Amino acid sequence: MSTRTELTTVEAVREGRSWLFTATDAHGTDDEVILVPCEDGVEAWVNRCTHEAQRLDRGMGVAMRDGELICPKHGSTFDSCSGHCDNGDAAHTTLVGVDVSVEDGTVYLTDDGYAFVHEGGIEDDDGWGDDDGPSSTSHLSF
Ligand code: FES
Repeated sequence: MSTRTELTTVEAVREGRSWLFTATDAHGTDDEVILVPCEDGVEAWVNRCTHEAQRLDRGMGVAMRDGELICPKHGSTFDSCSGHCDNGDAAHTTLVGVDVSVEDGTVYLTDDGYAFVHEGGIEDDDGWGDDDGPSSTSHLSF
């Protein structure tokens, strides 16, 4: 873990219930990652249900209840801390995790397999209208 990228704050994740960003994986492919609040801080999961590769956050935040992420397609729920699902169509699977760390209330991407691209989903580049924020990929501050 030689590099880390500042993402957002724990407070912002908690207030928004989730925080979506786009990252490039080790193969150069953009993927979406969601930050979600969990008991001991914040966890990050690839924004894809293990059942049918559906997006958990379709751009309006992740549906959550009692510390569980709810898949909008078939309703399986995943523990926000462990990523594990024990119910419905996605039972006995675990979301793909992404390494993040928290320091002084700030969330950092620390996963060597992913490089931060921008806040929001992949489609944001195609005109979701989220161009008010900083577009630089190297300096992000709120
Ligand atoms: S796609 Fe998520 S439970 Fe089916």
